[in-house]
Amino acid sequence: MRKETETMHRVNRIFRHPLWQGAMAQIEEAEKDRIYCRHDLTHLLDTARLAYIENLEKNLGLSKELIYAAALLHDIGRGLEYAQGIPHDEAGRGLAGTILRDTGFCDAECKDILQAVSSHRSKGCQSERGLAGLLYRSDKGSRNCFYCKHEDTCKWSEEKKNKEIKG
Ligand SMILES: [Fe+2]
Ligand SMILES: [Fe+2]
Repeated sequence: MRKETETMHRVNRIFRHPLWQGAMAQIEEAEKDRIYCRHDLTHLLDTARLAYIENLEKNLGLSKELIYAAALLHDIGRGLEYAQGIPHDEAGRGLAGTILRDTGFCDAECKDILQAVSSHRSKGCQSERGLAGLLYRSDKGSRNCFYCKHEDTCKWSEEKKNKEIKG
């Protein structure tokens, strides 16, 4: 049996990839004065961990590596959104595809992860049991609206906001 650290090998390759590092630096710079939720490593790992917990609790059977890869990549297009106005779910797909191929994910895995990245803002997938639905829920669930000083002016709908700790 492989050790757990070995199963996260490709996830750590994503983290170290120059394109991922560069995109995250661009996002950090663009968000330095942002008063609303940021798209930093804390958000990405919160999303990954919530998704993995739900995966275990509901026996969804998804691999830890796939979940963490999708979470680390889902907002990677944010820098292009700030710089060029391209919605980040679209902009992130190209970047994520290159990074996934460079880090050893096969075609089927790339397809699942890229689909989840592309649809992580699509309400239509929120009840799905697959990776896309799981990413949608954990991404939204990661935000601490109940503790936010700017919740009153945040553009999120009241229904989407987390008003209490759920897990
Ligand atoms: Fe996003
Ligand atoms: Fe996100």
